[in-house]
Amino acid sequence: MLGSKGFDLWADGYDRSVGLSDEDGTYPFAGYRDVLNEIYSRILNCKGRDVLDIGFGTGTLTVKLYEQGCRIFGQDFSPRMIELAQARMPQAQLLQGDFANGLVPALMQRQYDAIVATYALHHLTDRQKITFLQELRPLLKEGGCIYIGDVAFINRTELEACRCECGDEWDEDEIYFVYEELKAAFPEMTFEKLSHCAGLLMIPA
Ligand SMILES: C[S@@+](CC[C@H](N)C(=O)[O-])C[C@H]1O[C@@H](n2cnc3c(N)ncnc32)[C@H](O)[C@@H]1O
Repeated sequence: MLGSKGFDLWADGYDRSVGLSDEDGTYPFAGYRDVLNEIYSRILNCKGRDVLDIGFGTGTLTVKLYEQGCRIFGQDFSPRMIELAQARMPQAQLLQGDFANGLVPALMQRQYDAIVATYALHHLTDRQKITFLQELRPLLKEGGCIYIGDVAFINRTELEACRCECGDEWDEDEIYFVYEELKAAFPEMTFEKLSHCAGLLMIPA
């Protein structure tokens, strides 16, 4: 599992390596652009403009929302990722913190129209995911939504099929979302499959 230092080292080459995997249609980033575009359109189609991004990385998604006038808040544990994203979004409130310990107090003080987490929460166990998402949900404004875009599957059979296809490429350290297994904790959650390994999970307020 990559720690904050690993992400610091990956930061400068991140956009390029993700783009290549998406273009080739290969695990883990096949469908990455579609995931981000889908979340972008859904947020811009809503009224509110306050967006919290968990594990924002270089800011690929939130920079576009920022340019459309959204107020961006975020938490990431990699100083280099924060530096790169802050340079692209000078007015955004981007704070350092490990989300395995929850949201940093300053970001708990307000509510958001959208909370997004793309390709970040697979670093948490399923139990930690549920606890964290339950902590985030009350921070949504009325009509708001949590958007999780990631390597994700509707059920374990689909995950296992992808794992077989990927062979040695499969990252055993990452714990991917399985919609049918998390739905018990969030009955209103929905799932959209966007590639053979990518999905969008949405939890309304
Ligand atoms: C694969 S990148 C995804 C970046 C961006 N959301 C995207 O879709 O391109 C994962 C990001 O989550 C951050 N991250 C991973 N684990 C974290 C943790 N436990 N606490 C805070 N940030 C974390 C990393 O530093 C990195 O910026």
